[in-house]
Amino acid sequence: MDKTFSIIKPDATKRNLTGAINKIIEDNGLRIIAQKRIKLTKEKAEGFYSIHSDKSFFGELIEYMTSEPVIVQVLEGVNAVESYRNIMGATNPENANIGTIRKEFALNIQENSVHGSDSKENADIEIKYFFNNDEIVG
Ligand code: CMP
Repeated sequence: MDKTFSIIKPDATKRNLTGAINKIIEDNGLRIIAQKRIKLTKEKAEGFYSIHSDKSFFGELIEYMTSEPVIVQVLEGVNAVESYRNIMGATNPENANIGTIRKEFALNIQENSVHGSDSKENADIEIKYFFNNDEIVG
């Protein structure tokens, strides 16, 4: 068992899709072991996406991520990082497989409904960026 970090993004919370996305997560064998609904500040969003700060879409990405509340989550399961990436589908919904969250719900490459960590190392960093240990009760 290991953990990954997830964000249900503004395009999805705005369209009231939190429950629908959580159902897909749970139906695919991952447990939501921590979850909170927050509004990202500009500073918090810029820190989270600092790896993309030199990209042309960075400004737009920060504007989007701070436009509506998001749901931050810790997911647990067997091979949680890889498993959640498979459940999410490709970053660009045009390339996402049928049955994935992004194929079903994402609007475009930016408003792509969910984020998931890309490695175990980043999952640990991203979980700590949003959650204290006493908020993760298993
Ligand atoms: P995420 O998996 O959270 O990681 C970085 C985010 O930047 C990505 O999902 C998208 O929301 C956004 N993104 C990635 N590529 C592009 C792009 N080419 N144009 C606009 N936004 C993008």
